[in-house]
Amino acid sequence: MTRLILDSDKLRMRICGGIHCAAGGGGQPLETAFQRALEAYGAADKVEIFRAHCLGECAEGPCVRIGTERYYHVEKADADRIVREAVLPKL
Ligand code: FES
Repeated sequence: MTRLILDSDKLRMRICGGIHCAAGGGGQPLETAFQRALEAYGAADKVEIFRAHCLGECAEGPCVRIGTERYYHVEKADADRIVREAVLPKL
């Protein structure tokens, strides 16, 4: 049995790795891009990244959610900007 332990002090980011989003570059490549951007800004220990199986908006993928905010058609090149604009102000 797997137990998921959430750190309530961390901002949660969900990156879709479902079949539709993964086909468009979501999933692991986006996780890696966001992890690198977070590390570059010294914020990696303040954010938890989860891979979602589907966020229910497949036609808009690859999809990313940060808190209640939704980002669509996200590419690896967007990670740095999204971290600066949507993650760092929340920390
Ligand atoms: S597969 Fe990503 S939203 Fe459905």
